[in-house]
Amino acid sequence: MISQESIQEIQSKIDIIDIVGSFIKLKKRGANYLGNCPFHNEKTPSFTVSPSKEIYKCFGCGKSGNAIGFVMDHEKYSYVETLRWMAERYNIDLKETETSPEFKAIQHTADSLFIINNYARDFFTDTLFNSDEGREIALSYLRERGFREEIIKKFQLGFNPSAKDEFAQSALSRQYNKELLLKTGLVVNRDDKFMDNYRGRIIFPIHNLSGKILGFGARIIKSNDRAPKYINTPENEIYVKSKILYGSYFARTAIDKANECLLVEGYTDVVSLHQAGIENVVASGGTSLTTDQLRLIKKYTNNLTIIYDGDNAGIKAALRGLDLAVEEGFNVHLVLIPDKEDPDSFVNKIGAESFAAFIKKEKKDFILFQLEIALKETGNDSTKKASVVNQIAETISKINKTEEFTRRQDYIKQVSEILKVEEAGFNALVNKLIREKYSKQELKGSKTDNFNEASSLTIPQDETKPDESFSLFQKDELHEQAMVRSLIEFGLKEWNEGQKVAEYIFSQIDDTDLSELLDNKLLVDIINLYREWYYAGIEPTDKNFLYHEDKSINDMIIRIMDVNTEISPKWKEHYEGHIPTREELYKEEVLSTLTYVQLRKVKRLIAENQQELEKAKSSEEQMICIETHQHLKQIEMELTKRAGTVIYK
Ligand code: GTP
Ligand code: MN
Repeated sequence: MISQESIQEIQSKIDIIDIVGSFIKLKKRGANYLGNCPFHNEKTPSFTVSPSKEIYKCFGCGKSGNAIGFVMDHEKYSYVETLRWMAERYNIDLKETETSPEFKAIQHTADSLFIINNYARDFFTDTLFNSDEGREIALSYLRERGFREEIIKKFQLGFNPSAKDEFAQSALSRQYNKELLLKTGLVVNRDDKFMDNYRGRIIFPIHNLSGKILGFGARIIKSNDRAPKYINTPENEIYVKSKILYGSYFARTAIDKANECLLVEGYTDVVSLHQAGIENVVASGGTSLTTDQLRLIKKYTNNLTIIYDGDNAGIKAALRGLDLAVEEGFNVHLVLIPDKEDPDSFVNKIGAESFAAFIKKEKKDFILFQLEIALKETGNDSTKKASVVNQIAETISKINKTEEFTRRQDYIKQVSEILKVEEAGFNALVNKLIREKYSKQELKGSKTDNFNEASSLTIPQDETKPDESFSLFQKDELHEQAMVRSLIEFGLKEWNEGQKVAEYIFSQIDDTDLSELLDNKLLVDIINLYREWYYAGIEPTDKNFLYHEDKSINDMIIRIMDVNTEISPKWKEHYEGHIPTREELYKEEVLSTLTYVQLRKVKRLIAENQQELEKAKSSEEQMICIETHQHLKQIEMELTKRAGTVIYK
């Protein structure tokens, strides 16, 4: 691992103009630099780099980030690869931290497994092209299926001879460690003899994003009832099935360019589509997608298109798995290809051009498709329809990030048309589900809180103002961001003599469960990280957050710093003449942002307590609730008083 010291040295030397400028042409415009965005096609430059904030932002496509993120995105490097690249650029000697013996052992095993896999790949491709059996049986089979030599070479396909231990003997003669050989799954131990595990099979090497071989898929040539069609590498230090997508190495730049990832089931589907010139495609191996696999795709695009055969019995299971993709913020589409075909056979049948046209024409929105299927089953049954309504609202409620608002509203509009329900009511239902998710603890079953919501579609329309609950939600999020921003920006300034702003804030929130105070989990993480750094003597500057290893933290920091920091008009009324800057008013800002989130929490607690009171069975229980109420009201009053001394934006 690269030491923290080296990382800090790199951070201190980073010059974002120099870094970004080495990839694209930048022109100075005022305090910033401007260029053509490398992440989308544009003719008039809207890609802005701010040397003082050390971030870039494209006003065309919305992409933003820091210098490290830029290199990661532009070059498709991992975080560590980027650090190494920067170290080289700035002539920094990287110091590696002392790692634990256990970690070293794992690293060592992983390195060795890669070396063995590399050797095996060479052995298998050599056998495919240069042995009689390879050419006559395997290569001819691949050719018969329509794979041309060029694509076979690109994907490094190979062949394991059918003799019992040809590969095993060759590997042992090279002194590879037996235990490690077994770990790769390439050989098995039968009565103390090492045998080839993939005898007589076509070999598909499985690469990671930087092209190293994690493991193999091995396909039988003649189908056989007793033997499985494919055998895969067993889980080991480098082959972790849930994190692997076949083809990702060959697809990554095409996915990036097309801003779309096609997902198929099988190895052969990926290879065939590549041959047809469709390169933005990966395979899941027939199981439903995991979060880790989705994150892999997320590095390149938010648009996921699944190509499945329409006949697949598992289609419903697969569809259910796709909810996860929606939740992860993907725009999911679906293409069903005709019965008895898979993408490989279908593209071979109709040709590359028609296939591409077919995809374009048949691509359906996943959420609307799901609805279509569900509606087919309901007919005129109204209870069934109600459950469809709830189900689809649940799915749409997963599109809940602030930046996805427009997309969500589009769905709400379309779905209410298809279902023939009131749009406003349906909107309210979705908003209710979102709120419930965001404030599970505070709002459990509460109807007396200060948010507008409909408990179901039957609530009279005039009582629900669906849009308001969104704007309230968005406003809340902005207030939370403002509170965290004032901590980061002013935390090290003086609050009182001998007390820093950060210490004051912590004294105010110390016995509170932060997740009850703030809905946004990332913001909670940032506060905790700040506190950790502060007390460990690490300076918790925005820069340290900006270059934090966790990309979601950088993104949040960028969003926070990006918030319009203009002085509110109310301040201007208040101070005639000299308008104070935020710097001058930091104490007020800290107080007002903190008070807002505290006040909101107290209001929630009061509402919750009122619920308890309604349910209370004995007079004792009632007494407790009433006392709690008085206590909370007291706190509320004090906070309100405090709020009155500061001016809200
Ligand atoms: P071809 O039939 O040669 O075109 O291969 P395919 O990739 O189309 O296979 P299929 O559609 O039958 O299966 C899709 C994917 O599921 C495969 O690529 C494998 O990843 C996986 N798979 C299929 N059969 C097996 C099996 O027997 N064992 C394991 N572990 N995986 C399998
Ligand atoms: Mn197939």
